[in-house]
Amino acid sequence: MTKCIAFHSYKGGTGKTTLAANFAALLALKGNRVVLLDFDVYAPSLQSYFNTDPKKWINDFLFDNAQVEDVIVDFTPTLTHVNKRNSIDNSVFSKGKEKAAGQNILNGKLWVGFSNSKKEEIYKLEGGSSSKIQVLRKFIFLRELLSSDYQADYVIIDTSPGIRYWSINALAVADIVLLTLKMGDLDIAGTRKVSEEIYGTFTKFGTKSFLLWNRVAGYCVPHNFQNLTPTATSGMLASDIQSGANIQSDFGQDHSSNSMSSSMMEAQQATERDMKSFLSNETGMEVISAIPCYCDIQFSRKEYLTVLEHPEHPFTNQFNMLVDAVAKI
Ligand SMILES: Nc1ncnc2c1ncn2[C@@H]1O[C@H](COP(=O)(O)OP(=O)(O)OP(=O)(O)O)[C@@H](O)[C@H]1O
Ligand SMILES: [Mg+2]
Repeated sequence: MTKCIAFHSYKGGTGKTTLAANFAALLALKGNRVVLLDFDVYAPSLQSYFNTDPKKWINDFLFDNAQVEDVIVDFTPTLTHVNKRNSIDNSVFSKGKEKAAGQNILNGKLWVGFSNSKKEEIYKLEGGSSSKIQVLRKFIFLRELLSSDYQADYVIIDTSPGIRYWSINALAVADIVLLTLKMGDLDIAGTRKVSEEIYGTFTKFGTKSFLLWNRVAGYCVPHNFQNLTPTATSGMLASDIQSGANIQSDFGQDHSSNSMSSSMMEAQQATERDMKSFLSNETGMEVISAIPCYCDIQFSRKEYLTVLEHPEHPFTNQFNMLVDAVAKI
């Protein structure tokens, strides 16, 4: 059965697109059939992660100007290509025991649908109420097609921030909503508002919602992290280092040698624990994961998929845990 996951937030710039794109790519690398949709229809930006210039858009499908296969682009070859180039040890990504370490052929698939950023296309989506309902029906039909024709294990949707018509529609078709909050710019009141007023309605009908606490401070890793850190546990959350949670066997075995001293780690761990329970209490939602803020991602001049380009990056490790946590829901 297809699981549909929407990335949403109250405020803009919390990391939705970055997290949704990496999440989808990692799921595909782990052997799943994944469709990633840019449904941030008011300000689409997913394209920059895939270095592409689409000829057809989700908008064309919604307005009956294109078939689904024209707007859902197969990016599996790109994934396979980068996978091979990096000679990824697939034990990092393998799902179950069916894939041997070192095998480079992907069993998973990644398709991506992009949204048109032209202002007339955005206006069209905001059209009169009769056309809006028509387009909404087509959107629901798209979700169905991805299950039936594409046999997607996962449909991942990037949404627009806040309470807007098309964000709410995207949330309505989701089984799981991940709401991202950015450290340093937490909008607790706004988040509580979307949780109570919007998610509350959907959770009554079975949607699950969680907080995704992003850009947690204290882990800034320089660009050439590979050469500078003694183990890949450097740059991982204190709580995960402490518990040894899901750290891959080929790095991070010696937890005692990571760069954070134990007293620093305890202090950081206590702060994270307090913050997680504060966020949960204040918003009524469980924190499913906390993703550290990494300088090399934040200050990169070009967007890229970290899980693909840097399989050994602590961000990828953290994402492995997130993907496993979501798979269990
Ligand atoms: N964990 C992280 N560490 C460092 N930088 C991050 C992290 N997550 C996201 N970023 C950076 O934060 C910036 C904003 O991220 P992104 O565009 O994904 O946010 P968004 O929520 O999709 O924004 P919008 O609401 O405008 O669509 C980007 O430059 C991205 O590279
Ligand atoms: Mg975005």
